[in-house]
Amino acid sequence: MAVKIKAIRGMNDLLPQDSSMWQQVEAVLKSTAASFGFSEIRFPVVEKTGLFCRAIGEVTDVVEKEMYTFNDRDGDSLSLRPEGTAGCVRACLENSLIHGQEQRLWYTGPMFRHERPQKGRYRQFHQFGCEVFGLKGPDIDAEIIAFTAEVLAKLGLTEHVTLQLNSLGSSEERAAYRDALVAFLEQHQDVLDEDCRRRMYTNPLRVLDTKNEDIIAVLKDAPKLSDYFGEETKAHFAGLCSRLEGLGIKYELNSRLVRGLDYYNLTVFEWVTDALGSQGTVCGGGRYDGLVEQLGGQSTPAIGFAVGLERMILLLETLQLVQRKPAVDIMICAMGEEPERQQLKLALELRRALPGLGIMTHCGGGKFKKQMAHADKSGARFAVIIGDDEISNNVLSVKDLRSGEQQTIEMAAAAAYFKSVF
Ligand code: HAM
Repeated sequence: MAVKIKAIRGMNDLLPQDSSMWQQVEAVLKSTAASFGFSEIRFPVVEKTGLFCRAIGEVTDVVEKEMYTFNDRDGDSLSLRPEGTAGCVRACLENSLIHGQEQRLWYTGPMFRHERPQKGRYRQFHQFGCEVFGLKGPDIDAEIIAFTAEVLAKLGLTEHVTLQLNSLGSSEERAAYRDALVAFLEQHQDVLDEDCRRRMYTNPLRVLDTKNEDIIAVLKDAPKLSDYFGEETKAHFAGLCSRLEGLGIKYELNSRLVRGLDYYNLTVFEWVTDALGSQGTVCGGGRYDGLVEQLGGQSTPAIGFAVGLERMILLLETLQLVQRKPAVDIMICAMGEEPERQQLKLALELRRALPGLGIMTHCGGGKFKKQMAHADKSGARFAVIIGDDEISNNVLSVKDLRSGEQQTIEMAAAAAYFKSVF
């Protein structure tokens, strides 16, 4: 036998027994997006490498270490998208969707980062993201966070997650703060680990979100970015906080929340849980008012977020808040030639009358026992049995596969019967 080729580490198959959980979560996200008036956008999984370098930042883990980058046959450097915001902005600019108009968009699909795989962290993972262009906030900032809170509430997760909130100020405010932070870090070089020492000059704010407890302890005395905020930034953040309070959305201020991508300014937020170990961020986002201009458009305010679907589903599974659903609700079995012909017709009629239900025909014939075993294994709630007797009497035998009870119903009343029981 030939050697089997295995999947790439960190890139998972989604198997049929699990896909119903994904569909339920995706349905909640999509219906919430529709109810907030958002439209879907789709853009490629591969883009020119320069797009991500420019958008995400050269001195970020994502660009420095995690991108799947390759030269295509024309010699162009391309990368698999590590996130959706850069591609979304590129697509909107290219199709004139941004200038002079407001956009509220959502997308979903696979993203790729060459990280060390572990529970909740994969090399191909899936995001559901939203991006809004043309609104300065803070009203839209609150609306975006309300969107994420609504999704979490619909999934039953409100009590299991915390909203972490911070403001990164403007680029000028961050530049002024940077000098003070670097001066502080220079005084504490002995405590810094290799990663932080490297970042200290290239991207000092990222030192703030280190997971190293010793460094966190030292950072308690570091200068605060908020001390460098001007009136506008303060008013923006206060406006957001008061709206969140008005909506009853609880938040925690976290001055160490800086996010891993360089395009953010002002509002940044994450929804985190401690039920998933170290990969506890299920959703992250923020404002990125400079990015559209940085990618060649006119200056445009923007804000967005992305949910990590693997983490969200892992969390729901851990808390038993999502159930796998069988694909089949009704299995139609037939014994004999004429019943087999009627079986396919009946199945079609029922499918048309009962949209939303999974109605499967048992194919391949076989004895009654074999057909019932198939119905049981499918997870269906009912088996419909058509034999010669049923045909001559214009009836169907319907077996409830949970209780084992069987009854006879008029063929013409089948749709009405199933409507009443599902
Ligand atoms: P991000 O924080 O890099 O933001 O990713 C968003 C979410 O994707 C994370 O909170 C996490 O749930 C999930 N995620 C990230 N990396 C992995 C991984 N290796 N395995 C599994 N899940 C992962 C962004 O990507 C921004 N584009 C979000 C955004 C949109 N900001 C503004 N607009």
